[in-house]
This record gives sequence, C-alpha cells and structure tokens, in this order.
Amino acid sequence: MQIENSVALVTGANRGIGRAFAEELLRRGAHTVYAAARRPETVDLPGVIPLQLDVTDPAQVAAAAEAASDTTLLVNNAGISTYAKLVTGDLTDIRREMDTNYYGSLAMVRAFAPHLARNGGGAVLNVLSVMAWLGYEHSNGYGASKAALWALTNGIRVELIEQGTQVTGLLLASTDTDMMAGIDVAKNRPEDVARVALDGVAAGALEVLADEISVGLKASLAQNPAVLYPQAVGVRPPA
Ligand SMILES: NC(=O)c1ccc[n+]([C@@H]2O[C@H](COP(=O)([O-])OP(=O)(O)OC[C@H]3O[C@@H](n4cnc5c(N)ncnc54)[C@H](OP(=O)(O)O)[C@@H]3O)[C@@H](O)[C@H]2O)c1
Repeated sequence: MQIENSVALVTGANRGIGRAFAEELLRRGAHTVYAAARRPETVDLPGVIPLQLDVTDPAQVAAAAEAASDTTLLVNNAGISTYAKLVTGDLTDIRREMDTNYYGSLAMVRAFAPHLARNGGGAVLNVLSVMAWLGYEHSNGYGASKAALWALTNGIRVELIEQGTQVTGLLLASTDTDMMAGIDVAKNRPEDVARVALDGVAAGALEVLADEISVGLKASLAQNPAVLYPQAVGVRPPA
C-alpha cells in the first residue's frame, strides 16, 4: 500500500492517536486526509479535510462514505474505554464499547469496502489493543470489544482478498492520550505509534505490534493460560 498520494480517512482524528495518524499521513505525502470526527469543529490540523462522523450513527457513516468515496486507506481508529467490568459493570457501558469499537468499525468497513474496490483495492488499518489478548482487573468490556475487533480484522482480511484490499491490525499497549490520562504507567508516544503502524501498512504487514508489551503478549498466546493468569490456577471458594 503506497501512502504517498493515497486518499486516507481516519476516524476519531481530532485528538490522540487519530490526530497523530492524520499528521503522519500528511507528512508522508497522502493526497487527501479526511479527518473524521464527531465534532469536526475540533479538528485543528491544517491540511486535512474535516468530516462529520459518529461511527455509531448509520446515517453519518453512509454520508461519510459518499463524501469520501475516493478513499484508498481507511484507518478505523475511533474508540472508547469505559473501564466497565464484565461481571459487575454497567451493561450500558459494555454495550457502548461494543457499539463503538466493534460495530462502529464494522459499519465503516461495510460502507467503504465497495469504494476501496473501485479505487484499486487499497487498505484498511484497524486500531486494536493488547487488551484484546489480556484479561485484567478492569477494562474487560473494552477488551472483549477489541477481541471482537481482532476477529473482525482477521475475517475481513480473508473476505476482501478478492478485491485486493490489504487489511492490517495494529496492536498497542498504553499510549499517551486522553484515554490513558491519569494512569501512571509507561506510555508510547502517539506519533511513534502512527509511524510504526504506517510503516507496517506500507510494507504490507498483516499485523503490527507497536511495542514490546504487544510482542510479549502475542507470544504468550501460544502458552498455557496459566502463564498469563497464575493467580487463577487452583482457585477455591473463600474459606
Ligand atoms: N491510548 C491507549 O493507551 C490505547 C491503547 C490501545 C489501543 N488504543 C486505541 O487507540 C484508539 C485511539 O484512542 P486514543 O488513545 O487516541 O483515545 P482518545 O484520546 O480518547 O481519542 C478517542 C477518539 O475516538 C473518538 N471517538 C469516540 N467515540 C466515537 C464515535 N462514536 N464516533 C467517532 N469517533 C469517536 C473520539 O472523539 P471525541 O473527541 O468526539 O470523543 C476521539 O477522537 C482507540 O481505538 C483506542 O481503543 C489506545
């Protein structure tokens, strides 16, 4: 996938990793960068074309697909994290995560796939998360939505082969954006994530592991789950 002269659309491009994607696409000579956002007036990057888009709104998805029908690279970046727990968390939050992270990305793929086909195949980049691969004390509603998005990524990769569309999944751990504000852990820089991800897209990578944590977690999937969840081995009723 050639980034130079591509026509890219980034969802959630007004801030965080999405903004970094839009900036890096411009830097690499994309012909057009559609910066899609729920509030396009908050898009502050010179050189992009702001586009109204809430990925959970079917009418807005259809309108965006019509307005940006020349797209050759779709970056499904928009996402939310509510920190809802699966067993005791608010089901509304868990559904919102699935609606945005999974169904929102699916809606975008379904709306843009015919355009990508007409425009020569192009590429889709889906922004996943290592939480797709890891149960944790919190964030498991989010993790389930990203695991669904991982399956979606692998599924559409196969379904879109015939029309020549490349599909890349991006896995990353903590990155310094509003989503992780106030959480005191080591974080990637959004611009590094965007750079590594677009290097992968340009090289035809099916999957990009943006950091060491992602590499380690991917490797752990091949092992007994006891390696990731030692605390759950031999669990007994409380005394
Ligand atoms: N930061 C991390 O540590 C991390 C780690 C792994 C994966 N990720 C993933 O990276 C992606 C970007 O996250 P971020 O860290 O940049 O988070 P962020 O700073 O919170 O930005 C999230 C972006 O998604 C947009 N968005 C949310 N719901 C939307 C909807 N229904 N329709 C359209 N746009 C919507 C937001 O728009 P508004 O401004 O309108 O809210 C915002 O532009 C997400 O998919 C996230 O899950 C992040």
